[in-house]
Amino acid sequence: MKQAIGFIDSGVGGLTVVKEVLKQLPHEQIYYLGDTARCPYGPRDIEEVKEFTWQMTNFLVEQGVKMIVIACNTATAAALKDIRANLNIPIIGVIQPGSRAALKETRNNHIGVIGTVGTVQSLAYPNALRGLNQYVEVDSLACPKFVPIVESFEYKSPIAKKIVAESLLPLKSTKIDTLILGCTHYPLLKPIIENVMGDDVTVINSGEETASEVSALLDYHDLLEKQVGKINHRFFTTGSVDIFKDIASDWLDFKDMVVEHIHLG
Ligand code: DGL
Repeated sequence: MKQAIGFIDSGVGGLTVVKEVLKQLPHEQIYYLGDTARCPYGPRDIEEVKEFTWQMTNFLVEQGVKMIVIACNTATAAALKDIRANLNIPIIGVIQPGSRAALKETRNNHIGVIGTVGTVQSLAYPNALRGLNQYVEVDSLACPKFVPIVESFEYKSPIAKKIVAESLLPLKSTKIDTLILGCTHYPLLKPIIENVMGDDVTVINSGEETASEVSALLDYHDLLEKQVGKINHRFFTTGSVDIFKDIASDWLDFKDMVVEHIHLG
């Protein structure tokens, strides 16, 4: 039987990372948990986010996953270090891969980061970026209105366009040539964000780079799935099964998805 890769997020955002992993590693089996009932994590206290992230991690570890991807920037900033230090399976977050992807892309060393209030306040991105390249300039902006748009399945609506355009205004007057989507919910708004930022700014979805890291890490630990075999992905949510299913089937292009409801905490 296949051993799954576990993904956690406050809601549906981590599905953007799942999509990239399934592209690069189609033989892998996925277990995904979205804590939709307690979403958003962005405005919450860091200790609370850490506690919730541990609860999600423990749930998936009990299901026997071989690795955990913290597919949420807010949870990565709050809990990655702690979880990594206390578990003996590979654990990765999305901030380091997102930073690396942006540094590969920038030509003028001016990078923008948009994320939740929690991620921006944690300074996790400026620290990660400057840890890799001390000469980089970083402009960060919290966009607290984006996650509710995505979670309510309104990411293609005219209201989404209006809110994105208004929220990103402060970045339009900066010198950034690269913009990191520092929240895994934001790739669902990527076409709108790209439209607002214009052709001179490259928008980075950290999912792709995270998927490469997942692949490298599984290979290193000799955990890569080599068999074609039967795949049984599982999706869990603490919130509405129906909304989760609508968004996940739209984004992943899955038919007849089964989503299971669970309680945490
Ligand atoms: N998707 C999450 C992130 O990457 C969190 C969104 C939220 O719950 O506020 O930060």
